Order: sequence, then C-alpha cells, then structure tokens
Amino acid sequence: MAIVSFRRSSAGLRGDVVSVEPSPNQHHPLAVEDTPNAVTVEVTATHHPNPIKRTEAHVNEQLIATLFKDLDPFSGLAHDAQPDWTYPHTNFRTDFFEYIWTKYVKPNHGELKFYVEVGSFKAGSITRLAELLKTKYANWNMTSIVCVDPFSGDVNMWAWNNEKVAGHDFLATGLDGRPRIFDTFMANVLDKGHQDMIVPIVASGIVGMKLLIRLKAEKRIQESPSMIYLDSAHEVDETFMELSTAWNLVEECGAILGDDWGWAAVAADVSRFVQEKNLTQLPLYEMDNMEFSQPISGLILGPNGQWFFMKNPNGNCANDKGGKW
Ligand SMILES: C[S@@+](CC[C@H](N)C(=O)[O-])C[C@H]1O[C@@H](n2cnc3c(N)ncnc32)[C@H](O)[C@@H]1O
Repeated sequence: MAIVSFRRSSAGLRGDVVSVEPSPNQHHPLAVEDTPNAVTVEVTATHHPNPIKRTEAHVNEQLIATLFKDLDPFSGLAHDAQPDWTYPHTNFRTDFFEYIWTKYVKPNHGELKFYVEVGSFKAGSITRLAELLKTKYANWNMTSIVCVDPFSGDVNMWAWNNEKVAGHDFLATGLDGRPRIFDTFMANVLDKGHQDMIVPIVASGIVGMKLLIRLKAEKRIQESPSMIYLDSAHEVDETFMELSTAWNLVEECGAILGDDWGWAAVAADVSRFVQEKNLTQLPLYEMDNMEFSQPISGLILGPNGQWFFMKNPNGNCANDKGGKW
C-alpha cells in the first residue's frame, strides 16, 4: 500500500505526482485527504506496488499523458482481483497474425508501431499477441497496444450469468451487480508481465475508436494503428458500425482482422462491408499448413473463425509472398 499525492489546480487534479510514500494506515485502502495544495489518495497496489516500467512506445506514452493525467492505469489503484485464465474461448491464432503481419502489412508499414484490440475480455487474446511480439519481433518495445472494451460483457454473457454456461463465470458479477471483467483483465495482464506494452480504454468500440481518431487529428497521439482486431459484442449492424469506424481509424494498407466468422451477425456484417468497399482480390500464400479461403474479393478467412481484410481502397498496397518478421 502507498500514498500518492497529486498537485491541485483550479481545473481539478493536474495529475503530476508530488510524492509516493508507504502508507501508515493499512486499514483504509482508499482514504482521501484533501489539503489546499495537494490531494492525497491512498492506493492499494496488490500486484504492482512499484511504478510501471513502460517501453518506449509513443502512443502508449501519449495516451497515458493525455487521458490519464500521466498516471499509468497499471500503477495499482485498488486492483485486488486474482488472475483467472479459465476462459476457454480465446480463438486468436498467433500464426494467423504472423501471416497477416509478415505478408500483407509489414511490406507497407515496415514496423508495427500501434495495434488496437476491440473486445479484450480477460486478456486472453492480447497476452498471446504480446508474448508473440516479445518472442519474435525485434522492435516490440516500439509497439503500443491499446485494448478498447467497456469490460461489461455481451448479450450472451448477461443472459447466462446465473448458469455458468460452458463452465465459465463470464461476468463474475459482485454483490453490487457489476461485472468484474476489467479487474480480471488487469490482473491477467500483470500476471503475464505485459503491462509494459498495453493501455486499456474502458469504452465501447465505437467510442474508443472515435476517440483515437480525434486524438490523432488533434495531434495528441502521433500514430494511427496498422492493425485492428475486432472481437466485441458481435451484434448485427453494430459490427458494421464498428467496421466503418475501424476503417476510418486504421492506417491505409493496414489490416482489420477479427474473430468468430461462425457467428451469423459477424459473417453478414463483414461480408456486407467488404462488398461495399469493392476490395481488390488478395493473393493467398502458404504458411504453417493453415488453410485460407477468399469468399469475397479482398476478404480472407483463416483457421479458428479468424478473418481479415486490408484497407486497400485503391488496390495498390504491397504484398510479399516471402515476407518474414
Ligand atoms: C468474446 S469476448 C472477447 C474475447 C477476447 N478477445 C479473447 O479472445 O480472449 C467479447 C468482449 O467484447 C466486449 N464488448 C461488448 N460490447 C462491446 C462493445 N460495444 N465494444 C467493445 N467491446 C465490447 C465484452 O465486454 C467482452 O469483453
């Protein structure tokens, strides 16, 4: 436990930390002491009592400064959840990511500076990606990863909340009825040690992606993402709106990828969107015994219900059959 003091201004908390010191009071984890010049907040930092060591990735650093008053979301405000890796439906495939990155996106962007995931749940897919990058990508410390999710579940998760369908307590609602997904997400990221690469934005996909578009336009962040992974509510029409927003956010010759092709709403909205964009046919390459198909020009289906298309409105983005990390 520690006491963090912030400087106060007429506009409210400024966020520059004046001091961090051990707490003399172990029994009041969120006591707030307000003085004319400073506000003191006592924080519980069960998993990470120390300041977070961040990589040099620019967008993460800029988001923490511009959205969170320079206080890293992982620095320990009352996260008392334990890690929980029992969610059985993470379909994200690192080999499919590798295929898209090396053969279609890297030939255009060179480096992966910014990746956005919409629908992160308990960090199953994003920690797989972070692990892959740290293992295979020499410049992983320049990659900002942003996870956009209201962390409040989807329709099925609520409808099944008293039943533990598929043996998993999706929402883990507390006595106040609030889903505990975000607490588990934070605990799981800390558990795998990927808090150096990841920034969460607790908002719907549309709010979060529109926010990133606006922050880029206002020069408060310096990059747009090269890749956006969509694995959110999967509601018909909402998925189409997410795709339209993701298209506006992603850098040209970047990729929009996603999960759950087997969900009717996903297949219908992704197909409608790609057809409307009239995308150029992509070449299919061989890799790791994976099977690919292209049911609509520009839309590639891979293993485990994974799919992707490129933001390639003019048909002139590069591909590389022999592309490597
Ligand atoms: C199936 S889970 C994601 C699983 C995760 N990607 C994995 O593979 O481990 C779906 C997530 O979408 C989130 N979600 C629901 N509605 C959303 C919305 N409108 N925008 C973004 N995320 C949403 C839920 O809170 C939930 O965390």
